[in-house]
Amino acid sequence: MSLLRNIDIYSILVLAILLIPAYLIYAKNKRRSLSLDPQEALKQAGGFIPYIKKLHSEQGPIASHGLPMPNTISCIDTAVMKATLSCGNRPKELFAFVADLLGHDNLQIYEQGRAARFRKSVGAAFGQEAVIEAKFPTLCDIGIQFINEWKKAAEESRNGAVIRMQDDCLALSTEGRTDIDLTEFKKAYDLVLGGLFDKQFGLFDENENQKIQDALKYVQENVKNLIDQRQEEIKRGGKEKGARDLLTIMIEDNDPETGEPFTDDMIYMIMTCFLIASYHTSGIGILWTLFCLAQMPEIQRRLQKEIDTMLHGRLPSLADLADLEFLNSVVKEAFRLHSPSVFVARLLPTDTPSTFTLTNGDELSLEPGTTVLFPTPLVHSSKDYYANPETFDPDRWSQQRKDEIKPLTWLPFGYGARICPAERLAMVEVKLILLLIMQNFDVELAIPAEKVEEAERFVLMAKDDIPMRLKSRGL
Ligand code: HEM
Repeated sequence: MSLLRNIDIYSILVLAILLIPAYLIYAKNKRRSLSLDPQEALKQAGGFIPYIKKLHSEQGPIASHGLPMPNTISCIDTAVMKATLSCGNRPKELFAFVADLLGHDNLQIYEQGRAARFRKSVGAAFGQEAVIEAKFPTLCDIGIQFINEWKKAAEESRNGAVIRMQDDCLALSTEGRTDIDLTEFKKAYDLVLGGLFDKQFGLFDENENQKIQDALKYVQENVKNLIDQRQEEIKRGGKEKGARDLLTIMIEDNDPETGEPFTDDMIYMIMTCFLIASYHTSGIGILWTLFCLAQMPEIQRRLQKEIDTMLHGRLPSLADLADLEFLNSVVKEAFRLHSPSVFVARLLPTDTPSTFTLTNGDELSLEPGTTVLFPTPLVHSSKDYYANPETFDPDRWSQQRKDEIKPLTWLPFGYGARICPAERLAMVEVKLILLLIMQNFDVELAIPAEKVEEAERFVLMAKDDIPMRLKSRGL
């Protein structure tokens, strides 16, 4: 018996000696095979998020993937997030693809100090409460214009109007941002943004190049015309003072760097940068929230009840929005499940290695100049951060339960030094439009939810739109 036991132990030891190195070689090769052709692996996975998801399931909270540059990692650990996101440098290489549209020296890649000065000087255009208050009636007008069109369409058909909701939400969020003819501009902008995003991850189709170059020219000419027109108006004294918009601020104020008036190139860059940052984001936020609501009639009824009880059919004021607790929870939860933004990125200091203590106590040392991506949808769907993360449960944001939410696990607007400067404005816009829709319609999906496919662009869009049926509530 004891001989047998010794043989057992002996064979286990031999096996271990043979297998451990074999396993280490296998694991190393596996890691290497991932980095051999990350672009191919990304294509096979079906996009950036599924690819990163696979890597994290294999490698844990820190995953190295070499995309789009070799020295890049993806991180879903909140301790690293906290230490890193407070730094305000973005990786230039990662955002190099926007140079076609914005030029090589643009706000996206300004270093921390320059970005901070700039954000301070033009921030008045959208960050301050007084400005949001002043914009509010225009936002209401735009919302009502769309509601009236949908109502008309709903009256014409017995079973409600079927609306291509993504198209309309994007039109809604572009409206009021520029005076340009929106239908053509939107088409061109979509092409440019789609093309540029694909370039970033090596998915660019060269056959599309001419079309994209033409669209790029169209966007550039139109933004420049818009600037010329406003400069003329201001010269003639035609533009009202009061809550000045971004373009007026840039034409009238001085560049904080030079103390001189902003150059035309600078005004173009900033206007286009803001169009990129704002055009898709709010509209897509509204779209995905409606997508969640359309699948949950009981949540819709609860939301309508909250709105009706407070407003009795009247238009909301800005202050009303803050008091609608359930509306706030619905939007936060929808943004958790369907974050419009796909990732946030930072560049670590280039002169020294960075060391971190992970949430689980492990130490992590990263090479100087590492690019760290924080894949928002993965943070939002982590079981470590949310119970039943796949469930749409607005009540997790209620006053009673909101302390259960761990810091830094909700990042649709980023975090730290470069957090979205328009978070408050965007939330007001999204909540207002949803409120108007809920006051006027019951919303249903016009296709099965499983047929809705995500498409990664600058934001997470719906590949073939989401047709929704709007039925008038007839209040
Ligand atoms: C639902 C709507 C929106 C979402 C989800 C969103 C999300 C984001 C995110 C994730 C970032 C990067 C943050 C970081 O790096 O930490 C960002 C930056 C930015 N956003 Fe937004 N955004 C939205 C709406 C808007 C709107 C309406 C505007 C303008 C009116 C805007 C202007 C900007 C600008 C200018 C930046 C760059 C700031 C910088 O480089 O320092 N965003 N946004």
